[in-house]
Amino acid sequence: MANRILLVGSGGREHALAWKLLQSPLCHHLVAAPGNPGIEALGRGQGPGAGKVSVAAVGAEAVNDLVALAERERINFVVCGPESALAKGLGDAFAKKGMPFFGPSQAAAEIEGSKKFAKDLMKRAGVPSAAYDSFSDFAAAEAFIDRQPGDVVVKADGLCAGKGVVVANSHQEAKAAARSMLVGRSFGDAGARVVIEERLTGRECSMMALCDGERFVLLATAEDHKAVFDGDRGPNTGGMGAYSPSPLVDASLTRRIAQTIFAPTVAAMAAMGRPFRGLLYGGLMLTPDRGPMVIEWNCRFGDPETQAVLPRMEDDLLPWLLAAAKGELPPGSPTWSPGISVCVVLAAAGYPGKVRSGDAIDGLAQDGQLAGEGTDLVVFHAGSKREGERLLTSGGRVLGVTARGPDLNSARARAYGGIDRIRWDGMHYRKDIGLRGRT
Ligand code: AMP
Ligand code: GLY
Repeated sequence: MANRILLVGSGGREHALAWKLLQSPLCHHLVAAPGNPGIEALGRGQGPGAGKVSVAAVGAEAVNDLVALAERERINFVVCGPESALAKGLGDAFAKKGMPFFGPSQAAAEIEGSKKFAKDLMKRAGVPSAAYDSFSDFAAAEAFIDRQPGDVVVKADGLCAGKGVVVANSHQEAKAAARSMLVGRSFGDAGARVVIEERLTGRECSMMALCDGERFVLLATAEDHKAVFDGDRGPNTGGMGAYSPSPLVDASLTRRIAQTIFAPTVAAMAAMGRPFRGLLYGGLMLTPDRGPMVIEWNCRFGDPETQAVLPRMEDDLLPWLLAAAKGELPPGSPTWSPGISVCVVLAAAGYPGKVRSGDAIDGLAQDGQLAGEGTDLVVFHAGSKREGERLLTSGGRVLGVTARGPDLNSARARAYGGIDRIRWDGMHYRKDIGLRGRT
C-alpha cells in the first residue's frame, strides 16, 4: 500500500529519498514538508514522479502541523529525514494516530540525541567503542583528561548539528574544549554535559541499517568526507561528499560489523523497552588492532551518504521502509548495482562558517538538473531556493552532484564533469571525493 507518502525534511538526503521513492509503482503521491526546489521539480517533466509531488510549507519540527497536514492530505505512510523532528517526538505523534511511520520513537532517537545514552548502552551491550566517561562538572572533566595516557575527544552530549565534537591534539586543547562547552556553554544546554573518550585511529566508514525493532538489514557501505578541504584538511562540516561502496569493508568485515555492532545494539534497545524502528546509522572506525568500533550512532539516514547509497539500490525502497516501520522486515537484503557512486557536495560561500545565501545558481535547467543527463548523473538539492525563474543558494550545503559509474574513475569523471557546468559566486567543493578509495 502506502500510496500517499509524507516525506519530512528539506535536504539532499530527502531529495534522494524522494527521487528513489517516486520510482516505486506503489507511490502514487508524495508530499514533502517543507521539501526543496529539487524535490518539487521531481513532479514536473517526464520522470517517474511527474504529477505526483507537492510541497507544503510546514517545518520539519512542527509536529502538530505535520500531523494535521497528513490528515488533510490523506497520507498513509510518513518517512522522516531529520533527527531534530524525531527527537521532538514526531514518530510518537504519528503512532498515536495509528499511522505507519518510518523513524524511531523519541525514546529510541536518544541513541543519537544523547551521546552518554549511546555510550552507556554500548558499554552494557559489549559493543566495541572508545573508552569514555561523562561529566557535567568542569573540574572533574579536567582531572579525567589529566589521567588519560593518550589524546582524547570531547563531545557535547546533545544534538549540535554535527558540530559538537572536538578531536583534540593535546590535553590542553581538550580542556579548552571542555571548558568552553561546560562553563562557556558554547553549545547551550546540549553541552551542559560532555562525553570525553579515548581518541581512536583508523579509517572511517558509514554503515546504515533498516531496523524493525527486533531485526535489521544492512544497506550498502559508504564513506563520508567531513573536512571542508581536500586532503581532509580544515574544519569539519556536515559532510562534503561521499562514495559507495567503501572498499574497506568486504563480506567478512560486513558480517563482523553485523554481529558485533548492530545485533547487540538493536537487541539492547529492544531489551530496554526502546525498540529501534527506522534507520540506524553507525559511524564506524576501522581500527587496525581492535577491529570495527562505533564512533557515533545516528537515528536517521546519513547525509550525504544517502545521496550516494540510494542510487545504487536496485530494489524498490518503499516496501523495505514500510516493512521496517511495521515491524515486519523480511529475511534477505536489498540488492545493489555493481560499480561505484560518488556524491560531491557543492557548498556556499563561507561554509562551514557563516554562510552567505542568495547567490544565483547558474548551469541547471528548469527542473534543477543538468540538461541532457540520464539517471547516472543526478543533482540533489539541499540548500537551494526558487525566486521566480531563478535558483538561489539558501544554505551551507547547496547541491549534491551524484554520479554512478562502473568504477571509481568513471564515476568521479562524470560527477566532476557535471560540476564544471554549474557555478555561483563563492561556490566551493572538494576535488578529491572518493580518491581515498584508491588506497
Ligand atoms: P561525530 O560528530 O561523533 O561523528 O564526530 C565527528 C568526527 O570526529 C568523526 O567523524 C571522527 O572523525 C571524529 N571522532 C569522533 N570520535 C572519535 C574518536 N573517539 N576517536 C577519533 N576520532 C573521533
Ligand atoms: N554524514 C554524517 C551524518 O549524516 O551524520
